[in-house]
Amino acid sequence: MSLLIKNGRIVTATDDYVADIWVEGETVQAIGKDLPFRANNVIDATGLLVFPGGVDPHVHLDMPFMGTFSSDTHETGTRAALHGGTTTVIDFVLQKQGHSLKEALAEWNSRARGTAVGDYSFHMAVTDFNENTRDEIREMIDNEGITSFKTFMAYKGALMIDDRQMVALMQEVKKQGGLVTVHATNGDVIDYLTAKHRAEGKLTPLYHYLSQPEMTEAEASGRFADMADYTGCPGYIVHMTCEGALNAVRNATRRNQKVFVETCIQYLILDASLYENAAEGAKWVMSPPLREKKDQTTLWAGINQGLVQVVATDHCPFKWEQKLMGKDDFSKIPNGHPAIENRLELLYSEGVHSGKISLNKFVEVACTNPAKIFGMFPRKGTIAVGSDADLVIFDPTTKHRLSAETHHMNVDYSAYEGWEITGKVKTVLLRGKVVIDDGTCLAEKGYGQFIKRNKVSGTI
Ligand code: URP
Ligand code: ZN
Ligand code: ZN
Ligand code: ZN
Repeated sequence: MSLLIKNGRIVTATDDYVADIWVEGETVQAIGKDLPFRANNVIDATGLLVFPGGVDPHVHLDMPFMGTFSSDTHETGTRAALHGGTTTVIDFVLQKQGHSLKEALAEWNSRARGTAVGDYSFHMAVTDFNENTRDEIREMIDNEGITSFKTFMAYKGALMIDDRQMVALMQEVKKQGGLVTVHATNGDVIDYLTAKHRAEGKLTPLYHYLSQPEMTEAEASGRFADMADYTGCPGYIVHMTCEGALNAVRNATRRNQKVFVETCIQYLILDASLYENAAEGAKWVMSPPLREKKDQTTLWAGINQGLVQVVATDHCPFKWEQKLMGKDDFSKIPNGHPAIENRLELLYSEGVHSGKISLNKFVEVACTNPAKIFGMFPRKGTIAVGSDADLVIFDPTTKHRLSAETHHMNVDYSAYEGWEITGKVKTVLLRGKVVIDDGTCLAEKGYGQFIKRNKVSGTI
């Protein structure tokens, strides 16, 4: 099969030019002006943008959490991602405390293999570092192509590791050529504030927010950066929300230390005033919580300063019925936000269209940097000869409204219901196949491949 995309405006993290793209099989074979090839399928992209398929390195699909499962499976979640122009996601495998990494991987493989529609990879969440874990880390990196290890500094009793385990893990992961990623909030302080608010009968969603103040994230981010500096291990902080945490990383850069920072689309465009709505605030209960307008400003600035390298989603959807598990107690609301389908369009509309970031920066943080940081570049994350033909053809001027009525995520509300945005995904290719065509998914369940990742250096 061959395919020719004619006359599109090709945008990568560094380039911006009009040309044709020739795709044969699963990869891009040629890029140039007026390519003289005949193809089975010709797509006229005149007036449209062509950028690399999005890479979302933070999603939770079909994940057991807080007494339930996130509501998108690997099938529905990756299909929704494709609709939104994201062709590769990295999902989290959660080790059960007292059990091995391998057991956890087998469980996740049984859910994802043969069901994912889009390409996917896994981070391995280490929730219990012990002597056996050392050998398992080597196996994950060398045999499974899983080169990033997720840690939690919160959710004590289920997922959290202490600093003793963190330093030991970092030393091992550094030795083996991997990266440690972290949910950086101070779990003990959050547990204390949560218990205090509950004891005082303060049970509405607002108290979810007030139990995780900025300080809890700033402190943990600084502590993580210090441990990464001490061990020399490449580090990556997920879902950063606030000025205090970013300043902790800014400090680390003064000693020439690189700590990668990811924020998520919701932290750039939603704020904590949503928690004042007691009836519906559960829709935005996630950890860390939404913050203030000043934090949004800091995060946009951080993107432009190169301190924030990635915009992900932390997609962890729950249906309204699941959110209602916490209708009488904020601490029982399953934490998570649905956005896997909306990330690129929202970042384009609120970032590029509104003039906050450049088009190249948009591609850098949503496609290229995640692929580079996590060892998938240049196969993923760019448009180049030899790269996978994962391409988004995007109409930059069409306006449309986001709604649960029209989205493809398996969740019965939209966190962005009624938002009018500018720019729309039109056509999506994954490994040379047209998988989305004007809102219709043409890929079957099981088309998605597991992507083995390379060792990483901690620099990009
Ligand atoms: O609220 C969130 N973020 N839920 C998913 C788990 C996590 O902490 O990323
Ligand atoms: Zn076991
Ligand atoms: Zn987290
Ligand atoms: Zn997460």
